[in-house]
Amino acid sequence: MKHLFLTTSILATCLASATQAGVVEERKAKFKENVAILRAIQTQIGEGDFEAIAAGGRNIADWAIKMPDYFPEGSESAGALDAIWLNFDDFQSKAAANNEAALQLEQAAGTKDAGRIMAAVQKLSGTCKSCHRSFKSN
Ligand code: HEC
Repeated sequence: MKHLFLTTSILATCLASATQAGVVEERKAKFKENVAILRAIQTQIGEGDFEAIAAGGRNIADWAIKMPDYFPEGSESAGALDAIWLNFDDFQSKAAANNEAALQLEQAAGTKDAGRIMAAVQKLSGTCKSCHRSFKSN
């Protein structure tokens, strides 16, 4: 009986760490998607595809809301600094600033004005960098 209990708890530990590995992969995939969205914008302006730019802004904004949930305690990784869990309030407020700037990009897309869109992109990138400076290694 004791043996069975031990086996069960080892299994539970393995499952927990498999879940953490999953969450690290998922958040990295979302961050890569952010880069792809930002890179596509210049071309989309050229093509006049403002719908796509708005959708990209919305996608980044939605991810920013969920982002803190993808950094549960114990989900350390090479890219994530411990500072995240030591100062989670600040991490969350930087994610909120990212959300706000992404929504502004969505709005700027509605104006179909290249200058305003690129200004919103700059501002949004600033919120990515601001979080990376405090919480991302390399
Ligand atoms: C609130 C904090 C925060 C914000 C905002 C944020 N990031 Fe990150 N980002 C991180 C952290 C932390 C990591 C490291 C994740 C890991 O390796 O586990 C990361 C990783 C990345 C990576 C590397 C992914 C990989 O494959 O290793 C890229 C690229 C990236 N972010 C781009 C962006 C872009 C673009 C934005 C803005 C649109 C953004 N990030 C906004 C915190 C943030």
